[in-house]
Amino acid sequence: MRQFVAIFGPPGVGKGTQAKIAAEKLGMTHVDMGNIIRGYMRDNHALGVKAREFVSHGRLVPSEIVEEMLFDYLETDYVISRVLLDGFPRSLVQAQSIEKYLDGRGEALSVVINLTASVETLVSRLSGRRLCRACGAVYHMEFNRPPEDGSCASCGKFELYQRDDDKPDTVRTRLETYNSETAPLIDYFGGQGVIRDVDGQRDIDTVSADIARIIQESGPKDA
Ligand code: AP5
Ligand code: MG
Repeated sequence: MRQFVAIFGPPGVGKGTQAKIAAEKLGMTHVDMGNIIRGYMRDNHALGVKAREFVSHGRLVPSEIVEEMLFDYLETDYVISRVLLDGFPRSLVQAQSIEKYLDGRGEALSVVINLTASVETLVSRLSGRRLCRACGAVYHMEFNRPPEDGSCASCGKFELYQRDDDKPDTVRTRLETYNSETAPLIDYFGGQGVIRDVDGQRDIDTVSADIARIIQESGPKDA
């Protein structure tokens, strides 16, 4: 039986940064929904073509599209026994879909980590973010700088870029979408007693120490 953890929170709060650290530290598979969608878009796959108009406007991609991408991915050999979902679920429909998927396999979400930060912090983190096209490493031009020569500290390549949806107008829509469609899940998972709040406003290492502890406490005793 696999352990499933969801890392949850608004755009720019640090889900991807923290999920990568936790996955490496604890031997988990990091399933980054946004990255999976961007992969389909890059490949011009039919699902990616449909997704593009929503992503570029900061709206949620229709659930039937992301669910097809996600549930296919969860059946691949990349996914090992401890799974960290980053960016899924983002709506009530998606929460019920993942519950149904897991339930059908005798599995369940063991914990939902709710990362929080102020709106000012989110906007500043998104506007300074840079990513490596080659390996997906995430940097920030002020808080988590890449090497001075513009290379990637993880893979050494020179392919840092800014995401199209990190432009100010799209960021505003992404934050509104989060508030209207995703934030209500805090009450939904709160009602099930599986949510744990983590203050994501603090530095990366302090936040990651809290997250690792919560995941360990929620997992099987021998994990
Ligand atoms: P996605 O790629 O998931 O974007 P998001 O949720 O908007 O989140 P981000 O990736 O922007 O932020 P993050 O929380 O991962 O922060 P990060 O660690 O990078 O989704 C993109 C789009 O795809 C969506 O808008 C939607 O259209 C679609 N989509 C995705 N999932 C979907 C779903 N389930 N259903 C429908 N549509 C879906 O950190 C941000 C920056 O801050 C970085 O520069 C980092 O270095 C820095 N930073 C991180 N932590 C700290 C810290 N503690 N201190 C200082 N700096 C920090
Ligand atoms: Mg992310």
